[in-house]
Amino acid sequence: MKELTPKQIRSFLVTIPSTKMDEPMAEHTYLKIGGPARLYYVAAKADEALEAIKIAQKEGIPWYVMGGGSNLLVSDEGYRGLVIQMADRTLEVKDRAVTAAAGVLIGFLARKAAEKGLGGFEWGAGIPGTIGGAVYGNAGCFGGEMKDVTASVEAYDVNRGELVTLSNQECRFGYRDSLFKHGPHVIFSVTLQLPSGNAAESKMKIDEIISRRRKEQPQGAFSAGCLFKNIEYTDDSTLDVLKRSYKIPTEMLRRKRIGAGWLVDKAGLKGTTIGNAQISPAHGNFIVNLGGARAQDILALSSLVKMKVRDEFGMLLENEVQLLGF
Ligand code: EPU
Repeated sequence: MKELTPKQIRSFLVTIPSTKMDEPMAEHTYLKIGGPARLYYVAAKADEALEAIKIAQKEGIPWYVMGGGSNLLVSDEGYRGLVIQMADRTLEVKDRAVTAAAGVLIGFLARKAAEKGLGGFEWGAGIPGTIGGAVYGNAGCFGGEMKDVTASVEAYDVNRGELVTLSNQECRFGYRDSLFKHGPHVIFSVTLQLPSGNAAESKMKIDEIISRRRKEQPQGAFSAGCLFKNIEYTDDSTLDVLKRSYKIPTEMLRRKRIGAGWLVDKAGLKGTTIGNAQISPAHGNFIVNLGGARAQDILALSSLVKMKVRDEFGMLLENEVQLLGF
């Protein structure tokens, strides 16, 4: 990627002077990894983000919109363009509809909905990151997924240059997938439609979910959540090699989805360390930064895992984490 020219930078800064230069992305990612963003702008409202995008487009500046940085790996060299962080945290609850700006934290939304007596989103309580990012990746855990609760999404369709409101169907959600991963859109706000519940029961469910996360996933470590998608298969022969050596958990067979963490575990890779990055001893699909790890260390570990899982089980792992600046 080419360096931005002084003219490009000047043109941007003249219109949006609050933009920071050479902002270390390690300070904005859960992994605590990443070199500088040449330009870094925190957009407090959707129209501010839109203005920044339009200037970037006009000046030929590459741009990237980030949510909470919880599922993001930024290269050690950083990003030679503009990073826009969506920081609008406006939240409105009306009857059973919760409308949240893209920058609202998922956990905050989950607790607010529960307090208001709405059910069905307790599972969101322990997910790090923003609701915009959650919709983008159809985030989910413990049986829930964004696709089950999203009624509509307001976004900027970059190709058409207009604001659009998309229904749940139009978002084309799939496992850790959505329309937004395939065509450039910027998510501005999300409306969830939730069933009526009971505040006390929801609070109990939230406590249960948080304690399960504490037990099953690494705590207190810098990570980007699960690094790989679980492997979906249609053809049972995909499992031939794996079946010879291991008994595959029934739940995985039922869902036709083999856990990436389970595979990493079976490949004996938990605890493997490169530089200051480690495959978590607690869960095979989490790579943790032990302190001072580089993006290169994470990539090297990720390649090692992909190779070993391919060689041993004939299965291909795909990244779940988003990459920037590579
Ligand atoms: N397992 C192992 N060893 C491991 C990890 C898992 O044997 O090192 C076994 C577990 O014991 C369990 C099975 O594998 O029997 C599935 O593990 P888990 O319940 O942890 O679920 P997962 O499929 O590994 C998915 C999501 C997580 C989500 C959890 C809980 C993906 C890639 N991961 O993990 O989401 O929190 O379910 O619902 O879909 C994320 O997307 O970033 C993420 C963390």
